[in-house]
This record gives sequence, structure tokens and C-alpha cells, in this order.
Amino acid sequence: MKIAILSRGKRLYSTKRLREACVARGHDVNVLDTLDFSINVEQGKPGLIYKNKNITDFDAVIPRIGSSITFFGAAVLRQFEEMGMFCLNSSLGIITSRDKLRSIQLLARHNIGFPQTIFVKQKKTILPAIEKIGGAPVVIKLLEGTQGIGVILADTNKVAEAIIETLHSTKQNVLIQKFIKESKGRDVRAIVVGNKVVAAMRRVAQGDEFRSNVHRGGKVENVELDERFERTAIRAAQIMGLNVAGVDMLEGASGPQVMEVNSSPGLEGIERASGVDVAAKMVEFLEEQSDFPEIDLRQRLTLDKGYGVAEFHILKNSELISKTIENAGFREKDIVIMSIKRGTKMISNPKSTREILEDDSLLCFGKLENMKSLVIQKRKNRKRRKSFDVRKI
Ligand SMILES: Nc1ncnc2c1ncn2[C@@H]1O[C@H](COP(=O)(O)OP(=O)(O)O)[C@@H](O)[C@H]1O
Ligand SMILES: [Mg+2]
Repeated sequence: MKIAILSRGKRLYSTKRLREACVARGHDVNVLDTLDFSINVEQGKPGLIYKNKNITDFDAVIPRIGSSITFFGAAVLRQFEEMGMFCLNSSLGIITSRDKLRSIQLLARHNIGFPQTIFVKQKKTILPAIEKIGGAPVVIKLLEGTQGIGVILADTNKVAEAIIETLHSTKQNVLIQKFIKESKGRDVRAIVVGNKVVAAMRRVAQGDEFRSNVHRGGKVENVELDERFERTAIRAAQIMGLNVAGVDMLEGASGPQVMEVNSSPGLEGIERASGVDVAAKMVEFLEEQSDFPEIDLRQRLTLDKGYGVAEFHILKNSELISKTIENAGFREKDIVIMSIKRGTKMISNPKSTREILEDDSLLCFGKLENMKSLVIQKRKNRKRRKSFDVRKI
């Protein structure tokens, strides 16, 4: 295959390792500096120009987009996607995961642990917010910080308030997070490739530092992940829409607490700690998947007249409970159930004989009018008590 690695530096450890892994597996590979592209937006003919040459013939792209160039890097990647080339991580996944608030807002929809978090803007709302999450000590974070920079532990409510006010005055957005004491300066990073955790490490903060980032002097060691951590890491990567991710988790009293999902995880620490050739795993996955470029499902599906995607949540008095999909009449209304979320389980492409249960979330594709009428009708029947929620997505 002909593979492009988007990276700001040929000599960066992870870039070098990925390049070696591509060569070792017989691929033709080029490292291209993300900032040297021009994006040529033309109707029906998306183009990319790199150092005066048109880019046409890559089979796959490995993006390594640093946080300082997220906007431009994601735009370049989006253009590769538009040109039908397979990208190991999608531009949307990268943008979504880079914002720490947006990430946990998404995780919160699912059964995934994360430190209690609150986000405020106005001075008068700061102290109540700190109190809401149990008071100091609290962690204060810049939304797009990295390598531990922009993550602060505040010991008292007053200090926390002063720090947040100061950051607000410099137009920074910050989130306030419960400090997970019991993790004791240790966290776990799991590298997800596809639907598997391929390597994991524990990072231990040194001295009185609470941040375990390698760039803050954290020491790495090998760790055998228990199943809960593995499952959480895989789900978190999937929710972000990332094929490759480094998922950072604290060891909370109630299990794994996801802090962030990294779309360009560094390979040095993890390869050293785990002894796994992570770069090779990534390239192997690229080979398996390159024939299936990601498509923007929502955009493609909703273009047709009046069709769309919606999610129904089955509440406790719904008439659909205990009916099979067939008997519930979805098909007649031109609605297809694509998946059912049931607790922590996901039932993809459910058979028509499958029963609908209370608290299921049905992800449906179909005529929007019919989906709407289904909800409105139920609302009327039940007066103000909706028998299911609907969310158009
Ligand atoms: N809520 C928290 N409780 C305890 N430690 C935390 C918490 N949030 C972050 N940390 C520590 O700070 C480090 C950096 O935080 P993280 O959110 O991953 O930001 P960055 O993107 O800068 O790595 C983590 O690896 C962890 O050691
Ligand atoms: Mg981190």
C-alpha cells in the first residue's frame, strides 16, 4: 500500500516507529508535514496540494495531529476523507476527543465512569460549582490542555475560585473536576486499536506531583488490565469515533474513571512499558480496514427526502414493552431499527423477533414524519407522560 503519515516531524519517536512499521510490512510510506498542505475545495473535485504537487494516490493515511494544530490538521484530514482515502482516525473523532468537556459529555450518555465534572462561565457560579462536586481539593483543567500542562490541583475552595477567575479573565475555558484521591497519582493508559486493547501501562507520578504524565516526570510500568478497564477503554474509543486511541483512566473506588481519550497517543512510553510493537499493530489494522473508508453516516442517510436517524428511549409505561419488533409495527411505518442499547449491551441489527424492553434505546432509521407521529401519538395518549423519548440525531 501507499501510506501517508501526517506529522510535523520525521524524527519524532512515534512518527519514526510508524514509518519503520510500514516499511517492515512492505509498504511504500511518506511522512508529510501537515502544515505544508493547501486544501483545494472544488465542487465534486476535492484536492490537496503538497509542496506544489497534487496528492492523488495514497491508499491510507495515518494522522498524527498535535493539539497545537487541531483545526488545520483536521481540515487536511477531512479533505483526505472527501477524496475517499482511508484515514486511520477520522477528523471528527480527533476533534471530538480533543475537547475534554465535549468528550465527557458524550461519555456521560453511556455507562462509562469519569470524574464528576462541572463547567461554568460566570464568577457567581464558580463557588457553588466547586461545592456541588464536594468542595476542595478539586482539579481545574483547560479544555484543550495536553501533557499535563493546564491541569491544576487546588487545595481550597478559595484558591480554586481565584485560579478559575484568573483563567477566565484570560479568556480560557476551564472545567472543574472532582479529585480522584484514591488513584494516588497513578493512572492507566490503554491503547485501543480497532476493537481491542493492544497494550497498556500504568503511569505513576513522582514526588508530590499528582499528574502522572510522562512529560511531568511520571514513571511507566507494565500493567495487566482487568476486564472492566479493557471494556471501558474500548467503549470510550468507540464513543469518540476513534479506531486508534490512548485512553487515560484513573483507578477510582468505583472502577475505571476516564479522564481523556487521546487520538495521537505517544508510542515511546507504552512500547517500552508493555514490550508490544504498537506501531505494527496500528499498521496491521490499517491493512485490514483500508478498503472500508469511513463515511459520515448521518450525512449520507439523511439526504434522502424526509428520511433520518433518531433514537427512541423506551420509558416504563410504553406500549411497546414486551412486543417484538415485528409486532410493534416499525416496519409498516417505514422505520428500521439499526441497534438497541440495553444497559451496557449493544444489540446491532436486531432480528424482527427480538422483544423490546423497558429502558431500551432504539437507534432507528426511517421516515422522520412517521417517527415524529409515533411520538406525538404516544404523548397524546398518555397526556403529559411520554412513553418514550425521542432524539433526532
Ligand atoms: N480528576 C482527577 N483526579 C486525579 N488526578 C487527575 C484528575 N484529572 C487528571 N489527573 C492527573 O493529571 C494528569 C493529566 O490530566 P489529563 O486530563 O489527562 O490532561 P492532559 O491532557 O494534560 O494529559 C492525569 O494523567 C492524572 O494523573
Ligand atoms: Mg492525559
